[in-house]
Amino acid sequence: MDYTIAVIKGDGIGPEIIDATIPVLEKICKEYGHRIKYEYLLAGGAALDEHGEPLPKKTVKKCKECSAVLLGAVGDPKWDSQPGNLRPEAAILGLRDSLGLYANLRPAMVYDELEYASPLKHEIIEGGLNILIVRELTGGIYFGKRGTEVIGEASGIGKFIDHLRGEKTLPPGRFAYDVEQYSEFEIRRIANVAFEMAMKREMRVTSVDKANVLESSRLWRAVMEEVHVKYPQVKLDHMYVDNASQQLIKAPRQFDVIVTSNMFGDILSDEASQITGSIGMLPSASLGDGSFGLYEPIHGSAPKYAGMDLANPVATILSAAMLLRYSLGLGAEADAVEKAVKDYLAMGYRTQDIMSDGMIPAGTRECGRLIAEFIGH
Ligand code: IPM
Ligand code: MG
Repeated sequence: MDYTIAVIKGDGIGPEIIDATIPVLEKICKEYGHRIKYEYLLAGGAALDEHGEPLPKKTVKKCKECSAVLLGAVGDPKWDSQPGNLRPEAAILGLRDSLGLYANLRPAMVYDELEYASPLKHEIIEGGLNILIVRELTGGIYFGKRGTEVIGEASGIGKFIDHLRGEKTLPPGRFAYDVEQYSEFEIRRIANVAFEMAMKREMRVTSVDKANVLESSRLWRAVMEEVHVKYPQVKLDHMYVDNASQQLIKAPRQFDVIVTSNMFGDILSDEASQITGSIGMLPSASLGDGSFGLYEPIHGSAPKYAGMDLANPVATILSAAMLLRYSLGLGAEADAVEKAVKDYLAMGYRTQDIMSDGMIPAGTRECGRLIAEFIGH
């Protein structure tokens, strides 16, 4: 079959990890008789450099014409002093929002070969670990109202602050706010995704919230319970996010699917990645209602490693496997990529982030080349 996918290399190590991933997709095409056309597009710092905006309209339009988007990483400290809408990160948030990608799947698994790389004691992760974090991606505090005001200057602001803080007066000075908010609709659709995923796994969902403090979390919890009625076979637990963050370290094997809000999911997925040994290993898929999706590693653009052929491209390669599975419906091809990654690890090759004694060093490019080579072997 012929497919067209959008490819956004992005910033920092983004171009290298993408360049290491394309040969893997090409090898899949060769082995299975497909053709993929790559539509290279700009977003993030690279787009700011070229067009003065992080997410050109053309990028969004072209993405919509493709079956899926493969993204490297965006972000560069060069843009740190810019206002939020002119930072490279605005591109990724804009893409998720404009493409309707509300469900972010972040699997965290420990490969047998990498058990030593986990900072956790052997007995805690012994026997493997396989958690799927389902992060709500287009709502919550990331997309709530935000702003900075100067109290004592703007007229009428006092009233707004009364409303936000429940206080009559605040000392003069700068005041910033970001509103956490969820609608029943948004919670329901992410709950559905989590339960559907659990049905294909170990039938357990842990919904993570902060319902002891946040009103939006109380709605979250209530709606999770309502959706659960449709899935009586699945066991549903609720956990406060502070407790979840300790449980992930103390007893991570208790989790199967974790479903949580945008910000809690951002934080917990970084935490979960460390259990697996390296953030350089974890892929993600961002999905909406159809098969279209955006696939990216969960790590950032790591500017200090850019251009050094040091970055681990496995997270991007595994993201490409998720792309094959979810957007192109090519399950066997996705399995083949995942198997090739295991073979590569089993042969003892390691990028520097997961290096240990006696292993064979591999650079970014070499890692991609080897994994491509292992496909079909
Ligand atoms: C992630 C990243 C992004 C996020 C940033 C780059 C906006 O941390 O995908 O986890 O916070 O969602
Ligand atoms: Mg993050």
